[in-house]
Amino acid sequence: MYLAHTILQATLGFMIASATGAQAICNSTSLNTTSFNYYNDVENQTIHDIAIKFNRGVCDIGRANLMVDVSVVPYVGQTFIIPGEVCNPDWTSCVINGPGTDDCLVGGPRLYYTLNGDTLWKIAGRLNMTVDSIKCGGDGCSSKTNCTDGICPGGGGSQYSTNETIPAGQFIKIPMCHPSACDIEPYTFSKGVYKDLADKYGSTVGQIQMLSPTYNYSYIANEGGTAPPIGIAKNCRLLSSNYTILD
Ligand SMILES: *[C@@H]1O[C@H](CO)[C@@H](O)[C@H](O)[C@H]1NC(C)=O
Ligand SMILES: *[C@@H]1O[C@H](CO)[C@@H](O)[C@H](O)[C@H]1NC(C)=O
Ligand SMILES: *[C@@H]1O[C@H](CO)[C@@H](O)[C@H](O)[C@H]1NC(C)=O
Ligand SMILES: *[C@@H]1O[C@H](CO)[C@@H](O)[C@H](O)[C@H]1NC(C)=O
Ligand SMILES: *[C@@H]1O[C@H](CO)[C@@H](O)[C@H](O)[C@H]1NC(C)=O
Ligand SMILES: *[C@@H]1O[C@H](CO)[C@@H](O)[C@H](O)[C@H]1NC(C)=O
Ligand SMILES: *[C@@H]1O[C@H](CO)[C@@H](O)[C@H](O)[C@H]1NC(C)=O
Ligand SMILES: *[C@@H]1O[C@H](CO)[C@@H](O)[C@H](O)[C@H]1NC(C)=O
Repeated sequence: MYLAHTILQATLGFMIASATGAQAICNSTSLNTTSFNYYNDVENQTIHDIAIKFNRGVCDIGRANLMVDVSVVPYVGQTFIIPGEVCNPDWTSCVINGPGTDDCLVGGPRLYYTLNGDTLWKIAGRLNMTVDSIKCGGDGCSSKTNCTDGICPGGGGSQYSTNETIPAGQFIKIPMCHPSACDIEPYTFSKGVYKDLADKYGSTVGQIQMLSPTYNYSYIANEGGTAPPIGIAKNCRLLSSNYTILD
């Protein structure tokens, strides 16, 4: 028992030493801190793939390009800024970790417009809602269990399975919580990704997206161009704890 304890301590000590060692060996003078423009010529290549290819963090690339979300799949022909290498590439702080738990959208609006590579799973994450609530939205289904079959009429997402790619440019009706509200303001988007704005202002990535539906990224803003003007949803809240769902 005593021996096992000693070995465990020694192992932990080694792990801590190598973890701090890994940081110590990042010598910033040996990094390539030059940023450059990358022309995407590979279909369905994700920002994640590009980040691995150039040894950058996925969030560093997302923020350098004022992206809606790093899970939006680039089109062939789009140009992205690849920022300089850093000692601690950011792979996590901008990532939406999957669907939420809400069964309706707090404060609206009504229609979600799909971006390249969207799936119900990604949309649910961006709206902090469950996948099932989006599948059923706007479909006039008599029961929530029924609409997963894709047999409901209406404009919700019931014809798609959870991780099926939905073509870009489709409107999906999103069920809304009633009564609820957001404040909407014009906003000059000059820094970060939408998650930074959503976290700061009390809305979701999807709601900000719904207010400027065709915007997906801008590398040009960081090239001396104009920062994109967008609408921002702020302070989204239920107006009563007793709310109903407007499908
Ligand atoms: C970092 O690298 C440079 C050039 O390779 C070297 O001159 C410098 O001593 C290194 N610094 C540390 C702290 O290792
Ligand atoms: C740094 O990256 C840029 C852009 O890819 C490249 O042109 C340059 O040669 C690189 N510099 C070094 C020292 O590797
Ligand atoms: C890219 O993804 C779309 C949607 O999933 C698919 O239809 C298409 O075949 C893919 N193209 C390639 C080259 O993988
Ligand atoms: C997501 O929904 C949960 C449950 O309603 C809530 O506690 C959380 O603050 C929401 N997060 C965001 C980012 O809106
Ligand atoms: C779903 O609902 C429709 C209309 O209410 C009904 O005709 C159909 O039988 C239901 N399907 C299932 C699998 O429950
Ligand atoms: C959908 O994709 C996500 C992320 O890759 C995965 O975690 C989840 O299990 C998938 N869901 C289904 C129903 O395939
Ligand atoms: C996304 O951005 C590109 C380049 O600016 C643009 O061509 C495209 O129409 C945008 N919108 C959608 C929905 O993909
Ligand atoms: C909640 O709202 C519904 C519809 O507006 C109403 O019929 C019901 O009495 C309310 N319940 C409570 C507990 O206030």
